[in-house]
Amino acid sequence: MSTEQDPTPTATREWRERIVEGRFAGRTVVVTGAGSGIGRATASRAVREGAHVVGVDVAAERLDGLADELAGAGGGGRLTPVGADITDDASIASVLEAAGGRVDALANIAGVMDDMSALHEMSDAVWRRVFAVNVDGTMKLLRAVLPGMLERGAGSVVNTASEAALRGSAAGAAYTASKHAVVGLTRSAAFAYGPSGIRVNAVAPGPTVTGIEVKVTTQFGPARLGSARGIMPAAVPAQVLASSITWLLSDDASNVNGVVLASDGGWSAA
Ligand code: NAI
Repeated sequence: MSTEQDPTPTATREWRERIVEGRFAGRTVVVTGAGSGIGRATASRAVREGAHVVGVDVAAERLDGLADELAGAGGGGRLTPVGADITDDASIASVLEAAGGRVDALANIAGVMDDMSALHEMSDAVWRRVFAVNVDGTMKLLRAVLPGMLERGAGSVVNTASEAALRGSAAGAAYTASKHAVVGLTRSAAFAYGPSGIRVNAVAPGPTVTGIEVKVTTQFGPARLGSARGIMPAAVPAQVLASSITWLLSDDASNVNGVVLASDGGWSAA
């Protein structure tokens, strides 16, 4: 008898998407990183559940054709593509403008990986870039949508953390620190704005099949991280993460505020 186990999480072996018709009807949802991976899957899901999605990506060409593709997908929603860099204040203003001044929900998904460096071998450039996108960008857009949400007394935000926000063995020093910062931002905002009708949660994805790039440039960190890979589950399709994110974003999670939802096939339990 073989003792080998299928590493695919049980729940995703036969997973299929189940659309909740009209869940985001009448809502404007900003989704960053909409050109690729988890952001693209989330934008697609929200449109097919009725949202007007403002799909944001710094690589504007990745949004080409997405609006047309989703217009034919049914569900009553639509996508407005916006080429914008979430680290840039003028770009943030263009996102709000594309939303027509009203943002009901925000999925802060755009992010970049580091090079898996441990701290003593990490460059300032890697630290700055990773913090600029993952922390500054996430903060800037969240800060920008809050005044409107406060005015309406309603809003929902999902920030994207990572398994690297839950443990020290999932990525390099810069990425790990940046995703821990995302969790701090999430909890602070959840506490501050919960009584004002605004929910702020985070998702912590485990391995997911996307276009995210890792350029390894050092040796110590990557070698040490390699020793922790044994407990990592197999990667899941981006649609599986979109399912967790849209749930948190929607009224289905109306009593959930300030959580970090590990969507990782159980990795965080190991
Ligand atoms: P991806 O690389 O496939 O997609 C990210 C998108 O964000 C890209 O299209 C990119 O152009 C865009 N982007 C990058 N910087 C931007 C900026 N300054 N302004 C606007 N858009 C920008 O990556 P993936 O995997 O879909 O990542 C999405 C999020 O999930 C990230 O926050 C990442 O850290 C997180 N994550 C991913 C995991 C994985 O296994 N793929 C695991 C844990 C977390």
